[in-house]
Amino acid sequence: MGKTTTAVNLSACLATLGRRVLLFDLDPQANATSGVGLEKVEGASAYRVLLGEGSLLDKIQPTAYDGLQIIPSEVDLCGVDIELARSENHIHRVGQILSPVIQSGRFDVVLIDCPPSLGILTLNAFAAAHGVLVPLQCEYYALEGISMLNRVMAQLHDTGVNPHLELIGVVMTMFDGRTRLSQQVVGEVREHFGNKVFETVIPRTTRLAEAPSFGKPIIHYDKYNSGAAAYELLAQEVLLRIET
Ligand SMILES: Nc1ncnc2c1ncn2[C@@H]1O[C@H](COP(=O)(O)OP(=O)(O)OP(=O)(O)O)[C@@H](O)[C@H]1O
Ligand SMILES: [Mg+2]
Repeated sequence: MGKTTTAVNLSACLATLGRRVLLFDLDPQANATSGVGLEKVEGASAYRVLLGEGSLLDKIQPTAYDGLQIIPSEVDLCGVDIELARSENHIHRVGQILSPVIQSGRFDVVLIDCPPSLGILTLNAFAAAHGVLVPLQCEYYALEGISMLNRVMAQLHDTGVNPHLELIGVVMTMFDGRTRLSQQVVGEVREHFGNKVFETVIPRTTRLAEAPSFGKPIIHYDKYNSGAAAYELLAQEVLLRIET
């Protein structure tokens, strides 16, 4: 949990830091798309391109925010799992269609928002990416999901699907300073992952939860909210890790 909130808000903050950012919404739920203020429009997603029609470059759309562009999603992406499964090399489709976008030199950072399940779309994102950024909710089962992710990453390495994939970092989110549980979980995760865990912890705030219904990232919705400050700090930490 916290993937889309992190993808949207981190993208927006990276853009305000002067980076040219592309947010690629790969989740049929299209929450990142609406989160930056775009309507779900039939035919606007990467669906057709994934099946071999047209170029992903033509799917890129501007947002209301300088430096932030998006490849939107819509519900048609639901069907892509089944369609892709029938084609050869289907694990590399996202990487293939992204390649002209990367080559174009138009973006400093491409952020992919993944669906909830570890299906073909998510595996495609893992196969295409340089790194994975994992948001972890401050709940007691946080570490369970991570052991599965570790296994998948090891598999991607061992099978040669993406031998260079790295864990950029783990960001603890929905932190509630009033509960012992939150502090305990952060402690445990830090013990486990050491400096892979970002210093910045994202607080649980109502403003972060309501901002998407206005189609705005938190820094454009309520820039004095603690969630906005946290995502700004996280963006700086992320840049330190991916640009050096
Ligand atoms: N720091 C936070 N404070 C308060 N609410 C939050 C915070 N982060 C996320 N939420 C809320 O929790 C819910 C789930 O978050 P989000 O959509 O980011 O998760 P997700 O991992 O993308 O979920 P899915 O797997 O369904 O795509 C949303 O309603 C979101 O607004
Ligand atoms: Mg999501």
